[in-house]
Amino acid sequence: MAVQSYIKIKGGLKLKGEVKVSGAKNSVLPLLFSSLISEGEHHFKNIPDLKDLHLALKLLSSLGLSHKKLKQELIIQNRQKLTGDPCPKSVQSFRASILCLGPLMDIGKTVKIPLPGGCDIGARPIDLHIESLNKMGAKICIKKSHIVAIAPKNKLKACQLKLKFPSVGATENLIMACVLAKGTSFLENIACEPEILDLIRYLNKMGAKIEQLKKRKLKITGVKKLLTLKQAYPVIPDRIEAGTWLIAGACVRGQITVKKCETKHLKSLFEKLKLIGFDVKWNSSTALLKPGSQHKSINVKTGVYPAFPTDLQSQFIALMTSLKGTSSLLETIFENRFRYVEQLNRLGAGIQFENPSKILVKGPVLLKSNKLMATDLRAGAGLVLAGLMTPGTSEVYGLHHIERGYENFVPKLKSLGADIQLCSSKSKLYK
Ligand code: EPZ
Repeated sequence: MAVQSYIKIKGGLKLKGEVKVSGAKNSVLPLLFSSLISEGEHHFKNIPDLKDLHLALKLLSSLGLSHKKLKQELIIQNRQKLTGDPCPKSVQSFRASILCLGPLMDIGKTVKIPLPGGCDIGARPIDLHIESLNKMGAKICIKKSHIVAIAPKNKLKACQLKLKFPSVGATENLIMACVLAKGTSFLENIACEPEILDLIRYLNKMGAKIEQLKKRKLKITGVKKLLTLKQAYPVIPDRIEAGTWLIAGACVRGQITVKKCETKHLKSLFEKLKLIGFDVKWNSSTALLKPGSQHKSINVKTGVYPAFPTDLQSQFIALMTSLKGTSSLLETIFENRFRYVEQLNRLGAGIQFENPSKILVKGPVLLKSNKLMATDLRAGAGLVLAGLMTPGTSEVYGLHHIERGYENFVPKLKSLGADIQLCSSKSKLYK
C-alpha cells in the first residue's frame, strides 16, 4: 500500500487575519543559476523553503558548487571547478533547470542534459532558448530527448535579436549568456516580469552592464568577469503567492491582510478584484482585502506582465464560481492549462469551454465537497481554494505539486483561520 499525503479542508469558514509573503520562487531560481557565471560566494536572503529550490541546489552541487543554508539566507560557493554534467534527475524534475544553459554557455562549459521537467500545462518547447544561444555561437541541439549544448572554444559573441515571444525563461537564459559575451548585445521583445528585473539588478550589482533602453529592449555590454557582492542580496517577494492569499480571502468573503509583498507587482489583480466589488486597499508592501456589498461577474484575459498573470488563473476561476452572472477567462500563455477544470466541475462548478483557450463560469454556485487531484502547482492551489468554499470536507491529493512552489502553504492558510490539515493515508491510491 503506498502512503499518500493530501490536504484535508473543512470549508465554509471565513478567512481573517494577516499573512506574510515569502521570497519569489520564480526569482530565486534564475538568481541561483546566475551563481554559475562568477567565482566566489553568492549570498542571498529572503530565500523561500521550496522543493524547486532544493532541486536547483542539487543540480548546482552536481556541477561542483557548494552551498550553506542558514534559515532564510543562502550562500553558494562557486570555486569555478565545474565538474561533469548536471544531475539528470534534478534537471528532469523542474522547468527552471533549463536556466543552467545560458550561464554554462557563457563560461564555456559543454553539457549534455535531459529535457527539463515542470508543470504539465502545455508542450513548453525550448526552441527560443536554443535559437537565441545558437545565434551567440553555442551549438545546441536536441538528440533523443537530451539537450546537447556545446559551448564555443572562446567566448560567446554578442548578438542583436528580437524574441518571437517574450518568453520569461528564454529572456533569463539570454541575459545570463550576454553578460560575459564578447561585444555589446541588443535584445528586443524580452519578457519584463519583476523576476527578470530582479535578476538584472543582481547581475548589475556584480558588475554586469545591462541597460533597459525601453520596457522590452535591453543593451548588454559584455564584461571580462563579474565580482561577488559583500552583502546578501534580497530576493523580491512572491507576487503569485501574495495573489493566491488575496484570492483565497475573496473566495470566502473574508478580510485578510497580506504583508511583505511588493504591491506594485499586483496591479492587474487589484483592478479585477475591485471591478468585481471587493474593497482592496494597499501601500507599497501591504494589501488589505475586504468583501464589498455585492460581487458581480468578471472577464479576464491572461497575458505577459503586466497583464493578469497566467499563474493566478486557476485560483481566480475558483473565485468566479461564487460571482453573480457569467464570468470568462481567456488563457493566452499556455495551451493546456485548464486540466483541473474537470475537477472543479466535479464540485458542481458547471464551467464550460467557449473554445479550448476560453472558459465561461455561471455563478454563483455553491460547490460541493469531494476528493480532488492536483494536476500542477497552481491548479493545486486553485483546488484548495475551491475546497475552502464548500460547506463540507474536501481532500486535495497531489500535494507534491503544491510543495514545489509555496512555502508553508497549509500553515499560512491555517493562520488565516482555515480548517485545513496535512494528512496521509495508507488507503488505496487515489483514483
Ligand atoms: C515561467 O515559465 C514561470 N516559471 C511560469 O511559472 C510562468 O507561468 C511562465 O514563466 C509565464 O509567466 C518559472 O519562472 C520557473 P515562458 P517559462 O517561457 O519560462 C512558450 C509557476 O507556476 N515558449 O514565458 O517556462 C511556452 O510554451 C510556473 O510558477 C515557447 O514556445 O514560461 C508558453 O506557451 C508555471 N518556446 C509561453 O511561451 C520557448 O522556447 C510562455 O512560456 C519558450 C517558451
